Amino acid sequence: MQKSEHRAGLYERWLLPRLLDLVMRNKEAIRYRRKTIPGARGRVLELGAGSGLNLPFYGREVTRLYALDPSEALLRMARKKRPPVGIPVEFLEASAEAIPLESRSVDTVVSTWTLCTVPDAAKALREARRVLKPGGWLLFTEHGHAPDASVESWQRRLNPLWRRIAGGCNLDRRIDRLIRDAGFEVLDLENEYLKGPRPFTYTYSGRARPA
Ligand SMILES: C[S@@+](CC[C@H](N)C(=O)[O-])C[C@H]1O[C@@H](n2cnc3c(N)ncnc32)[C@H](O)[C@@H]1O
Repeated sequence: MQKSEHRAGLYERWLLPRLLDLVMRNKEAIRYRRKTIPGARGRVLELGAGSGLNLPFYGREVTRLYALDPSEALLRMARKKRPPVGIPVEFLEASAEAIPLESRSVDTVVSTWTLCTVPDAAKALREARRVLKPGGWLLFTEHGHAPDASVESWQRRLNPLWRRIAGGCNLDRRIDRLIRDAGFEVLDLENEYLKGPRPFTYTYSGRARPA
């Protein structure tokens, strides 16, 4: 193995999971976790559960939680955390583009700051729609494409470098469009810039259901 490949491997397998865990604990993220996660009900699938930072926010209405993420290192961190109310949690080391659950088997799909990173977000959302029961909910808080021309142009400029250092994260995905194109009806949608540099913080948060 080349030295540079070894360094890239170490960065992605060791340093990046720890950086993500640290960065995603910020106050603004916590504010949105508090708003988004308590809406989950019944059998819940979380896409890109990462290091488990949403786990403390699930409530008693959840009967089972599937925490899915392709990163073994992040899931190892997540396993050390527990929801406060004794919900059974099953950790799935898998990709959101191929969800290992039956069709129409979950009541809520949750996605927070994940659709930016999944390589094929459209496919992941079609999979989310497949596993949702009719009448189920997709609860999302994501960052993405900003409406202001100057911010958008910075997003386009920064994206290639950012994607490389941030584990494949894209700054400029049109989250609402992706959700609608996958066959969802968006019922609530809130957009705002969170505190911090604007190309990184334009937020899409809301609820959608299979159309
Ligand atoms: C910025 S982190 C967010 C983690 C977590 N959702 C949170 O709110 O803190 C992006 C997450 O997307 C996950 N991810 C990357 N590719 C994925 C895929 N194909 N399917 C599901 N999750 C994926 C990463 O492993 C990581 O946990």
